[in-house]
Parts: sequence; structure tokens; C-alpha cells
Amino acid sequence: MNISEIKNLFPALKQKIYDKPLVYLDSAATTLKPISVIEKVRNYYSLENSNVHRGAHYLSQKATDQFEAARENVAQFLNAKSTEEIIFVRGTTEAINLVATSFGESLNEGDEIIISILEHHANIVPWHMLKTKKKVTLRFIHLDDQGNLNLEEYKKLLNPRVKLVSLTACSNTLGLFPDLETYVTLARLNGSKTLVDGAQLVSQKKVNVQKLNCDFFVFSGHKLFAPTGIGVLFGKKEILNEMPPYQGGGAMISDVSEERTLFNQLPFKFEAGTPHIEGVLGLSEAIHFLKNIPFQEIETHEDLLLKLFMSEVKKIPEVIVYGDSLNKGAIVSFNIKGAHHSDVAQILDQQAIAVRAGHHCTQPLMKYLNLQGTVRASFSIYNDEEDVMKLIAGIKKSKELLL
Ligand code: ALA
Repeated sequence: MNISEIKNLFPALKQKIYDKPLVYLDSAATTLKPISVIEKVRNYYSLENSNVHRGAHYLSQKATDQFEAARENVAQFLNAKSTEEIIFVRGTTEAINLVATSFGESLNEGDEIIISILEHHANIVPWHMLKTKKKVTLRFIHLDDQGNLNLEEYKKLLNPRVKLVSLTACSNTLGLFPDLETYVTLARLNGSKTLVDGAQLVSQKKVNVQKLNCDFFVFSGHKLFAPTGIGVLFGKKEILNEMPPYQGGGAMISDVSEERTLFNQLPFKFEAGTPHIEGVLGLSEAIHFLKNIPFQEIETHEDLLLKLFMSEVKKIPEVIVYGDSLNKGAIVSFNIKGAHHSDVAQILDQQAIAVRAGHHCTQPLMKYLNLQGTVRASFSIYNDEEDVMKLIAGIKKSKELLL
């Protein structure tokens, strides 16, 4: 990978913040956008603006064709069997809420759902809401002594009442990759459906939903170099067909009379209202952009940055890094002993280093680890060794100023 060429494709990286070149280490919150994605969205509004699936005119047909080609592109990206399995939603959060609301209708009092202590609030709160509505039981897998998800605990939690196992593919706080294949296979043997939160995974590793054999896979476009407000729910066709619609309105119907509504076929049954057209086109463009960068190279590059960070940070004894598992993506959470995470982030910000500080929408994990919060840095395809060393220098400066 030629990182300087890649950097060059991201206009945000050409700017200075406080007169210093931006070091963007907050891709786990949202990735920067390449020029091709920005241009695609601009072009749609400049020349192609039209609604989809509705108009009888040239531009509407063009928008519809591009929109449905984007669905095909997403299906290929995930290796889904068919475009009927690709539902456009606002993001990971909406995708999980859709499943909790719609698939959740089939659950009954006493049914169980398993999630993990690593989950983002987006994969906790919808299940808490379902717990209130349907009186289902929510169970958590915690961490083992090596800092991985506790497989033995999971095996003990599995029983015939477990209807769904919903797990992150990569912790947004610790970067940990659970051994998903094992978790999904065991769930399947138990007769439980599976949902994989791929929000942090999609920009780091190649996804293959058929190989993984999960029932649902969800992600957000904005963490994949695409616009905000667009995301994807992949669901196996036979399961989506059984599920009731999530929202009612235009596009999700086949016929409406005064008395009743007949619903549209997949995937439209789950897409009420005018969709986020430019978001879908931008997402497709982001996937095209990624076709030029093999995932194997992305993994190797991000792992190199992670290893560099880990070896350098170990030289600063005041720093504690959390989640030091071997199977880890390019997301690191740390604290400087005796300093508040927000103060560290503020000093890094003054060096034009963008990180996230706080609980990272994972309060149960913070409580479990007995932490108020952490500083989180996340590396992506446009980061290089110099960015890592600037972060290390920023941490040293924070230490000098705060301790
Ligand atoms: N889920 C995003 C994050 O972890 C916003 O920062």
C-alpha cells in the first residue's frame, strides 16, 4: 500500500488544525471520506437529483438504476446470496433496532438473548427495550483471563431458550476481534439465530456472510469511508421473509386499500419512505474505492501501526493499555495513570491529533473494567508510522503537562 497516495485521496488530510497537519486517529468514530465519494454525492445533487422507484422520467430511472446497482455492489461486498437480503437503513443502530423490533415480535416471555460485555450501546439498548416489552432475558458473555470473550461462559449460557446471539465483530473500545466463527457455529448448533455487529469490522477485514453463516450482519456506511446516515442490514432471505415490516409508508407496500395494506417483497418491505439516495450512492462508491486496496494489505498495514504503537507505548510506564489481546484490530484504548482521559484528549487535540475520549458508548464494559473512561485512538488506511509517532509524542507531552 502506498500510504501517501492514499492520504492524497482524502481532502480532510490536506488541512491544518491549529496550524499543524491533522493527525486523524478517530476512524472508529467515523472514517474520513475519499474524494471519489464526495464527488459522487456532489454529482448526484448537481446533475442526477431525483427520487427512486417512483418517477416516470429519465433522471428518476437513472437514480433508480444506480440505487439498485449499489445494492448489488453491497451484496457482492458482503458475499450475500441475493440483493433481496440487503436492506438499506440509517446505520448499524437502526439495523439492530429493526431486528429487535421485527424479529423481536416472534420472541416470548422466557426466551433468551445472548450478547457480550464488549457491545456498543447500539447492541445493548434495543435488547433492554425488548426485555421490557416481551419479558425476554438478556445474558452477557464476559472476558477471560487473556482478555478474550469467555468461550466457556458462552457455552454454559447456551440452552434451548436462547433465540438470538448478537455479538460485535470488533470491539469499538478495545479493538478485540472475538472468534466469531466459533460463536456463530455454536449458536447454530444450539438452534439460535445470530446477529453480527460489523460496524468496526467492515473497514478492517473482508466480510463473507455466507462463509460466516450468520443470520444478520449489520454495518454503517460512515465507518466505511461513505456518508453518514446510511447503513446496511443483511439478513437471510428466509428469515427476513418471516419478519413483519419495521415501518409503514410508501415503497414498502404492494397494495393499500381503505381496509388493509399488502406488503411489498424483499428488500422493499423494510424500506419505507424515500431512502437516503445519495448515501447509498456514496456507499457504493466507497466500496468501489476499496476494490483498489486488497483487504490483506489493509490488515497488514493496520497491524503494523498497531504493533508500532504497542511497542512504543510500552516504553512509557505511566500508560495503561486496555484489552491487550492477541486477536485485535487497529483500535487502542489507554489511560495515563493519574490523568483524566478528557485532559489527555484535549492536549492531543492541541497537537492536531484527533482521538475519542470517554466511555465510547460502552458503559457496561467501562463498569466491568472499573473505568471512568479511556482515550481511544484508531488507525485506518490513511494513517502511517509518522502518525503513530506523533501520538506517542503527544502522550509524552500530556504526561509532562498533567502529572
Ligand atoms: N460507534 C462510534 C464509536 O465507537 C461512534 O466511536
